[in-house]
Amino acid sequence: MKTPKNHILVIFGASGDLTYRKLVPAVFDLYDQNVLPENFAILGLGRTQLSDDAFREKMKEGIEQFALNHKNVSQNDKVDSFLQQLFYHGFNTKEEGEYEGLKDKLFELDGKLGTDRNFIFYLATPPSMYTVIPCHLAKHGLSKEEDGFRRLIVEKPFGYDLETARELNVSLLKHFNEEQLYRIDHYLGKETVQNLLVTRFSNAIYEPLWNRNYVNHVEITSSESIGVGNRGGYYEGSGALRDMVQNHLLLLAGLVGMEPPALIDSNSIRNEIVKVLQSLRPIKEEEVEKYVIRGQYVGSTVKGEQVNGYREENGVDPESRTETYVAMKFFIDNMRWGGVPFYIRTGKMLPTRVTEVVIHFKPTPHHLFASNTTIAQQQNQLVIRIQPDEGLLLKFGMKVPGAGFNVQNVNMDFHYSELADAYLPSAYERLLHDCMLGDSTLYSRGDAVEAAWTFVKPIQEAWKNNKYIKVHGYPAGTWGPDVADDLIEEPHLTWRYPCKNLANDGNYCEL
Ligand code: BG6
Repeated sequence: MKTPKNHILVIFGASGDLTYRKLVPAVFDLYDQNVLPENFAILGLGRTQLSDDAFREKMKEGIEQFALNHKNVSQNDKVDSFLQQLFYHGFNTKEEGEYEGLKDKLFELDGKLGTDRNFIFYLATPPSMYTVIPCHLAKHGLSKEEDGFRRLIVEKPFGYDLETARELNVSLLKHFNEEQLYRIDHYLGKETVQNLLVTRFSNAIYEPLWNRNYVNHVEITSSESIGVGNRGGYYEGSGALRDMVQNHLLLLAGLVGMEPPALIDSNSIRNEIVKVLQSLRPIKEEEVEKYVIRGQYVGSTVKGEQVNGYREENGVDPESRTETYVAMKFFIDNMRWGGVPFYIRTGKMLPTRVTEVVIHFKPTPHHLFASNTTIAQQQNQLVIRIQPDEGLLLKFGMKVPGAGFNVQNVNMDFHYSELADAYLPSAYERLLHDCMLGDSTLYSRGDAVEAAWTFVKPIQEAWKNNKYIKVHGYPAGTWGPDVADDLIEEPHLTWRYPCKNLANDGNYCEL
């Protein structure tokens, strides 16, 4: 792996959960593999007043729990040397006056450590600060790349809708140019998501089939078995459409649907993703009921335990209509995909945690063995398992040994875990390292973010304007409202169910 230039990673919101659970453990994993530059530091910024030592102690706990090799952390003498590279500065991000002090602190550290005036600013704060911080940084001369590099990483959510995303882009671009901006969608940092590109473009056997002539439909599922936990307050203003569909799931659709890029570089790949997002057939407001199903989990018994419904979660309105589940059907209007339905589905409190892309191929044009198999069984499936149990599964028909021509569906199954020396870096580890190297390939570009918001806009509008569009209740531990099955029009086909419902009561209700 390449080693980045000397630099300081400045984290705004360093006393928050993201820093503790994801960012610092990911940077430690990089350090542990010796891929950080010789002169490197993290400067944590937060409103809470903490000494460097108190910050280090807290981050040590985070590393022990969440670094990928955390099992060995207690015996790892690198932890202590890593912690010595961590510093903290108590700071009110809203106060413009405090930025001069921040600059002094940064320059002082830079002088002491020899980090060559290279700074990465990471916004791990509430989104309301995304317009404020860059503006103050710029006013204090911290955005211009005159003496070293200046990069800005922006966490999701990137906007709340199309208008706010546009405003945010405009505001950021006043102070930083596009090459300095790194908009995170952590799905792109996942090894198996990147493997989608390799599967498609390095295997001569898939690409010729990857189009409307051979693909019947594409299914993308990202299910979670947990609820909103202590994030009820945030989730109330978000819901599954903003939280998962607008970013992670549409991005997966973009990677499945894109044309081969001319080169493996940032602009070539991102150009192709944008083209897919811009080719999504708009769902008109009056069509939303037909193409999009929303649901919300209700209390149920899962594996013998009573679990709360969404409305009983902390920070949630007892009459909330926020969706915790979305399933939808859409089309990509271009030469490759014309007429092929894409089905995507995501939800909280479903039976299992799984993210997968399933390419359902068309049956053979002539059904030679039709009497022995159902049509669904004649359709090969390629399942790309993004997580967990990362891997690839191909389902195909085989002759059952013995008399006659009976066909049975069998699996050819590859698991990453079978590669004994495979190390799957966490998404944040990969993305942070890329930003340190100045490679934005796996970050979202402004036009892609806006294209995705453009697509979800009529859905947001319809849900806002038409209170008769149902929010279907589904018992926690089940696969969501059964009306989602109606989205798939072909009678012999259903969604893939990687594991059974767990709730005792299978009753669906309307909220
Ligand atoms: C985040 C969402 O972006 O992605 C969370 O805000 C969700 O609600 C998470 O739980 C899922 O990520 P992963 O990597 O666990 O699939």
